[in-house]
Amino acid sequence: MLTGNIGHYARILSNEEIEKLSKDKIVLNEFKQNKLEVEAKKNWDLFYKRNKTNFFKDRHWTKREFEELANNLIENDPKPFLLEIGCGVGNFIFPLISEGTAFFIHACDFSPRAIDLVKKNDLYNPDICNAFVCDVTKDMLNEKISPNSIDVATMIFVLSAIHPDKMHFVLKNVFEVIRPGGMLLIRDYGLYDQAMLRFGPGHKLDENFYVRQDGTRAFYFSEEYLEKLITEAGFEIVENKYVSRETVNHKESICVPRVYIQGKFSKPKYANLNEIYQPKKSVEGVI
Ligand SMILES: C[S@@+](CC[C@H](N)C(=O)[O-])C[C@H]1O[C@@H](n2cnc3c(N)ncnc32)[C@H](O)[C@@H]1O
Repeated sequence: MLTGNIGHYARILSNEEIEKLSKDKIVLNEFKQNKLEVEAKKNWDLFYKRNKTNFFKDRHWTKREFEELANNLIENDPKPFLLEIGCGVGNFIFPLISEGTAFFIHACDFSPRAIDLVKKNDLYNPDICNAFVCDVTKDMLNEKISPNSIDVATMIFVLSAIHPDKMHFVLKNVFEVIRPGGMLLIRDYGLYDQAMLRFGPGHKLDENFYVRQDGTRAFYFSEEYLEKLITEAGFEIVENKYVSRETVNHKESICVPRVYIQGKFSKPKYANLNEIYQPKKSVEGVI
């Protein structure tokens, strides 16, 4: 069945779209899938070698969608800490910095080239920002920054780039460094986003999981899937919803229905710091 265990989705598909998705059953073989996992870091690093800072647009919508990013909302906290996971070249952090933010910003990515470009940005200032290389599927965040110290963590189009088998580990890794009562904010690709429907044969890796031409991967989340992942990692759900947007593709003169998933998740205030689950290091290269 096309929708599998999915209960709720944001878009009604046309008959052609349903047919296309249900015909696309063949997934890449295990060898190729493992290769993509082993080469994930290399593929993203090459992406930044090719595109430099020119691919993603600055994300100026973030304070509108996530009021937690507005400075005045962190009560009694003179210097709140923000962690942007998978920061790329800084399209999320630099609009915040240029508008003025009370946060000290930690920003990490597993692409050394991306981190280098972040550090070369004129707005980068080590007094208010710490950019570092980190593969969140392997490296323990709490060895890089203090456990239970982060007021707000953000994952903007990042969880979708991670193999579904490793998402639980990654969320636990992030959970460790957020303070009790702190928040994780996520924006990512939603089920039946137009980009998901455009994949041709040979790009499917698993249900709702695809590989792009350049070897980077994208998972398309249903609300139910994200809810399960998040709650299993120990977070409480404040908000978890689809966001639908129409973008215009001027070149092809068409309206493109985009579907995103957006969530706000809190680390329970009662979280006993001694009993917080310590994720074990994942085995390199093994999915
Ligand atoms: C679509 S980009 C988003 C960049 C940025 N968050 C933004 O809003 O523009 C996804 C980013 O996730 C990073 N990434 C993917 N897997 C990662 C991992 N395991 N550890 C750290 N970063 C990762 C990629 O290098 C890439 O920069």
